[in-house]
Amino acid sequence: MTGPSLHPDTWRDVDAQPNAAKLGETLETRGRTPTQARLRRRFLRFVPVRRGDRVVEVGCGTGVVLRDVAALVGRRGEAVGVDPSRTLLEVARRLRRDGAPGGRIVLREGRGATLPFAHARFDVALAVTVILHVADALGVVREMARVTRRGGRVGIQDQDFGVVAVTHPDRPLTDRILTGVAERIYAEPWSGRRLPGLLLAAGLARVRLRTDVYQDTTLEPFTKSFLERRAENAVRFGIADAAAAQRWLDGFTALVARGAFVLTMNYYGAVGVKP
Ligand SMILES: C[S@@+](CC[C@H](N)C(=O)[O-])C[C@H]1O[C@@H](n2cnc3c(N)ncnc32)[C@H](O)[C@@H]1O
Repeated sequence: MTGPSLHPDTWRDVDAQPNAAKLGETLETRGRTPTQARLRRRFLRFVPVRRGDRVVEVGCGTGVVLRDVAALVGRRGEAVGVDPSRTLLEVARRLRRDGAPGGRIVLREGRGATLPFAHARFDVALAVTVILHVADALGVVREMARVTRRGGRVGIQDQDFGVVAVTHPDRPLTDRILTGVAERIYAEPWSGRRLPGLLLAAGLARVRLRTDVYQDTTLEPFTKSFLERRAENAVRFGIADAAAAQRWLDGFTALVARGAFVLTMNYYGAVGVKP
């Protein structure tokens, strides 16, 4: 159980959570999901991350994105990950494969608002599903711009919990749970669609947007755990009682059995150039 003093968004302070190790597993489960891997790689091509680039990923977690970055930048490049969670960095250290083809992965403890790097140190700064979770989104993007060289790219990608579409026989309950839980957890549940505006506010130029869709018709483990966490939080926030939340989850299982389950979630990727 999450203590009353903790922020409802567990990603704000992973190490304070009793289930910190489990949170690391959910990142790896998401990373392994084929549709997620495809949309992550499309985002890295969109930025783009190129061979030889020096790249920092803010909020790297267990290193899912960073391992792809290392493969793209190669041995002449650099893939540097920063995260405030020692638990997640520990997993990232275990999973990085220094001997594998691709660039070396460097991991640092730190927060997005105060990056432990000199000005203009990187060609590319990235934050993937992180901006949604931080208290001062603009401060973090400004800091990412600070450590990026002139002509370098700042790329941010986020979901947007205002546009999750899912099949369910009980539409009002589905709406209440998805909207109600997101509103209570995140300062800005419409995170994805605001990313271009954030880049512009941070002084970046030539801002471009690419929206990708996570689509699932089989209830992948990542989707299942997403819906289970929503149900759990709906009970915690008094949006539904335990019996209704369980009925809600059972509704998805029944749809999957009939081959009629659909969930889509938009991922907005925005990139700007440091003038
Ligand atoms: C949903 S996870 C995303 C991890 C990784 N980018 C990925 O896509 O697999 C959010 C991450 O942001 C980190 N985080 C939370 N607050 C942060 C902050 N203020 N600055 C940097 N990272 C932060 C968390 O520790 C966590 O690793």
